[in-house]
Amino acid sequence: MKNFNYNIPTKVLFGKGKAEKLGSEVNKYTSKVLLVYGMSSIKKSGLYDLIKKQLTDFNIKCFELAGVDPNPRIESVYEGAKICKENNIGLVLAAGGGSVIDCAKAIAVQAKYEGDVWQDLYVDSKLGELRDALPVASILTLAATGSEMNGNSVISKMETNEKLAIGHGKLRPVFSILDPTYTFTVNKFHTAAGVVDIMSHVFEQYFSPDKRGYLQSRLMEGILKTAVHFGPIALKDPKDYEARANLMWSSSLALNGMMSCGKESTDWATHAMEHELSAQYDITHGMGLGILTPYWMDYVLSEENAHRFVDYAKNVWGIEGDSEMSVARKAIDKTREFFTSLGIPKTLTEVGIDHEKFEIMAEKAVKNGPLGTMKALEKEDVLEIYTMAL
Ligand code: NZQ
Ligand code: ZN
Repeated sequence: MKNFNYNIPTKVLFGKGKAEKLGSEVNKYTSKVLLVYGMSSIKKSGLYDLIKKQLTDFNIKCFELAGVDPNPRIESVYEGAKICKENNIGLVLAAGGGSVIDCAKAIAVQAKYEGDVWQDLYVDSKLGELRDALPVASILTLAATGSEMNGNSVISKMETNEKLAIGHGKLRPVFSILDPTYTFTVNKFHTAAGVVDIMSHVFEQYFSPDKRGYLQSRLMEGILKTAVHFGPIALKDPKDYEARANLMWSSSLALNGMMSCGKESTDWATHAMEHELSAQYDITHGMGLGILTPYWMDYVLSEENAHRFVDYAKNVWGIEGDSEMSVARKAIDKTREFFTSLGIPKTLTEVGIDHEKFEIMAEKAVKNGPLGTMKALEKEDVLEIYTMAL
């Protein structure tokens, strides 16, 4: 196992009723917050009223930034940072899914930054310039990204069709409230997209050519089995607490950094390819991953790396057999069937995407070098995978 440092400072308050602790938690940091949320879901679910009451009860002044888009835009970041600077805000509180949390993180940085975070951090990756940020906290309402426990933030600039990510320890939320009952209202489509995103985060760390990382692999198989078991239950009965709770905790564990601690390598090619799709077509992240993943698996599978797929086949799907390649292919078929059973489309054509922008997307996807470790993907490989997914 490789050496690693492990430090996940986010305090997690998990379970029904935990949002009642919001006021006392915020009170430890500040008496002035910026509440960041999306379009309407937190108002419909009653979470908005509860947040307001909690903050009022603790005499915490609340400023608001509403209307954060799925695939959050840099314009919202500038708007939120302006409010923070003008009002001496002490904490940015996100209430929503990954988009809202990612936006809150970018606001927290821009509020303490003289230059332009988009250009310096997201485009030019000068992460050394990120020296300070306001504390961020979250109340999660959708199980998917892991943003509630990680230091990542993914922001889009639609004008230039760019969707870019940064990751920094200072962006990990200081606390996150994970009450599964607030995910009861997530519709079938976003529930399914969330399950795929959770699984994809695991795949990106599970699939690597090295044979070590035994413990990490077993932990990740546990998350995959949980998603496979509870995803369909949450779709059938959106108010099944156990299903929503298991998915919520899976979301956090899949991408809080713990799964890849000590691993030799990870992949992340599918995410890079999907981010180009979202940047050009503004599609839902998990759906894009669900379409691309089985084609990526088909494309990278080889005699040399089949052992990874065999572990996945046996330990997640219970598939047995003598030929490694045949067992591996069966696991890929199972993955495709599972995603389809959740209602995820099988092809890009089904979501109205044709080959027109493949060239530009492939070019951008590999601009920092080849993608992935299962097979290093050059531009031509990425083009091939997009074409297979048509
Ligand atoms: O805007 P509202 O009204 O809140 O509606 C949202 C939105 O339409 C809705 N929703 C959220 N919670 C709900 C709900 N509807 C009903 N009831 C609830 N309880 O769901 C829709 C999608 O929300 P969004 O936040 O966009 O979804 P998700 O959590 O999947 O986040 C996706 C974004 O995160 C990025 C993605 O690229 C995308 O931009 N990612 C962030 C990562 C990270 N920070 O680590 C990693 C991921 O790989 C990913 O790239
Ligand atoms: Zn993802």
